[in-house]
Amino acid sequence: MSPVSMDRNRIVSVVTVDNPPVNALSQAVREGLVTAIEAAEADSESQAIVIICAGRTFIAGADIKEFGKPALEPFLPDVVARIEACEKPVIAAIHGTALGGGFEVALGCHYRIALSSAAIGLPEVNLGLLPGATGTQRLPRLIGAEHALDIMLTGKPVRAGRALEYGALDKVVAGTDLRAAAISFAEDCVAKGPRRIRDMTVPEVDAGLFDTTRKKIAPKTRGLISPEKIIRAVELATKTSFDEGCADERELFLECMASPQSSGLRHAFFAERSVAKVPGLSKDTPQRDVTSVAVIGAGTMGAGIAYNSLASGLQVTLLDINEEGLLRGEKTVRGLYEGGVKRGKVAASDMEAGLARFSTSQNYEDIADVDIVIEAVFESMTIKKEVFAALDKTIKKGAVLATNTSTLSIDDIAASTSRPQDVIGLHFFSPAHIMRLLEIVRGKGTADDVIATSLALAKRLGKIGVVVGNCVGFVGNRMLYSYGRESQLLLLEGAAPEYIDKVLYDWGMAMGPNAVGDLAGLDIGYNGRKERVDLPDDSRFYQVANVLVEMGRLGQKTGKGTFLYEKGSRKPIPDPEVDAIIEAEAERLGVKRREISSAEIIERCIYGLVVEGARILEEGIASRSADIDVVWMNGYGFPRYRGGPMHYADTVGLDKVYATVCEFSERFGPMYWEPPKLLKELAESGKRFSDL
Ligand code: 3HC
Repeated sequence: MSPVSMDRNRIVSVVTVDNPPVNALSQAVREGLVTAIEAAEADSESQAIVIICAGRTFIAGADIKEFGKPALEPFLPDVVARIEACEKPVIAAIHGTALGGGFEVALGCHYRIALSSAAIGLPEVNLGLLPGATGTQRLPRLIGAEHALDIMLTGKPVRAGRALEYGALDKVVAGTDLRAAAISFAEDCVAKGPRRIRDMTVPEVDAGLFDTTRKKIAPKTRGLISPEKIIRAVELATKTSFDEGCADERELFLECMASPQSSGLRHAFFAERSVAKVPGLSKDTPQRDVTSVAVIGAGTMGAGIAYNSLASGLQVTLLDINEEGLLRGEKTVRGLYEGGVKRGKVAASDMEAGLARFSTSQNYEDIADVDIVIEAVFESMTIKKEVFAALDKTIKKGAVLATNTSTLSIDDIAASTSRPQDVIGLHFFSPAHIMRLLEIVRGKGTADDVIATSLALAKRLGKIGVVVGNCVGFVGNRMLYSYGRESQLLLLEGAAPEYIDKVLYDWGMAMGPNAVGDLAGLDIGYNGRKERVDLPDDSRFYQVANVLVEMGRLGQKTGKGTFLYEKGSRKPIPDPEVDAIIEAEAERLGVKRREISSAEIIERCIYGLVVEGARILEEGIASRSADIDVVWMNGYGFPRYRGGPMHYADTVGLDKVYATVCEFSERFGPMYWEPPKLLKELAESGKRFSDL
């Protein structure tokens, strides 16, 4: 049965698209739309046509699942053109979100009506694309180049009220009966007849608009190719005929579609949606009720988690046995709220409501009735065990007991309680209220409903929860050890800190590894390594960082780390003193220094990640390579357009990656570079991580 059906209400034909979950424009929908428009045009009783959608939203775009496969007719630009060519007025009736190709279909219509709760948008840029069904040519004609550029370059949806102000919509109605409102509006449109955007001209634009826009977006679009193509397409709309502009748009769109960047971003889109479906965990797993949270430890992380929880509507108690620390934590929470209000990101009324749900305590008895505890104390097994033993004694049965440890064993922590089924790791990333990743670490005793509850909590906190297994450092920090290890070895072997950072930054990482170390504090990793009993027998392992910490060079907080920092500045400045320290260490350890190419830096650091990722998959710590990608894109600044380390390795080709890893194993020894069996097997059988 076609996902597009039609009925008639007096003189108005109503074409309904019903293609759950989001009415994406599959081939069947495209074909159904053309058939329906032709039938309505041929119907002598019909004088106007409404296109409306069933379910939760108007068409949310092209069907992304079809991308990368051979395109099937009818092509979307032709469908949009066919709708526009209709002799009878066609009205798009929008609820939910009209996005991408969905909004382009609406732009092919002659008029647009929407519910006040609806939104429109062209989010293609998030997929490494530009609107490819004539949106770049139509929207500037309808609302002017400036607003059109903004909508396409940010990819953010625009609410109906604002879209009406821009002229992207013709009418906005309150209530829920969109069908009735659209039919009545369509009747009014009969006398006006079709109004085609292709016949409009783009309103006059400021001559400097395009170059100003290029400059404005540059810092946020580093390395991306589609934003520039969007600007070019819109510029063309102001200069060439509609048909020429559409032909050029098509070419630019196909170039983007074929790019590895779009493949990486499409992978990111689906990977981030797949993490919520955990293999082996039924989607009907019950959840425990969570309305109240206690956060233990009022440091930066604890206060950030408390603020995040308050902003998500939860009742929050921040507990710290140290009075001074607790006061500082309380101040941090208030400061985060006040900063949000000042920047216009938080309404004053939300701050008031949030703070009314906030309390502090130094006494475990006060939190006995909470639904979930999130421990965020100092990263020491001894201290964590003490806290969990105290929680076990005081907290009500059935509460979730979570630890924010970033490396320590969940099973060892759970063993200090009588209820390992309730214990789970919730690894937040700093700053906790901003970073989107939440690693959800299941221990061997963790109950399924605790995992399901944690996934739901992640969503409520506005985070992407990824369920991983228990091992030192879990997925993210375990891989970070390999990445950091290689960048530290490269320092000894002759690559300057600023050179390593520049190479990896230019490759797309949010920051270089040395600058990240200084930002986080080199002592954090140092103390973490002290807790470990499984460090490799290698005197070079993180040796530069060790020496710097022992000299008191902890990073930004001491004004000196791997780099120097001027007072009040976060800008890393290369320090000759550090170069001398590195050279002396290399000599002491017998490391021969040499010229190191940027290609080697990238391969050593990124394949270091891939090799560890493969081991993590072998051990079942992550159930899918996409889970690893989501962790690295959302927690560690891995470029989204490269799709995460495992997707990146797939795009390079695992045979090539394997060959390089074998070469490294010969050159640098097998201690770090012994190729994982999984990588060898996949490479030899011509498969990819995503085939697992
Ligand atoms: N194609 C295929 N599947 C899609 C899809 C699309 N455009 N949009 C969403 N889906 C799928 C999701 O993968 C998910 O599938 P799953 O249940 O199997 O995991 C399901 O629909 C529901 O999606 P969400 O979990 O994201 O649901 P939400 O309610 O949170 O959000 C949404 C709904 C706002 C529509 C969000 O899904 C979204 O932003 N979708 C992408 C919209 C988009 O990028 N459109 C442009 C596509 S490119 C294009 O149109 C090119 C054109 O210019 C030629």
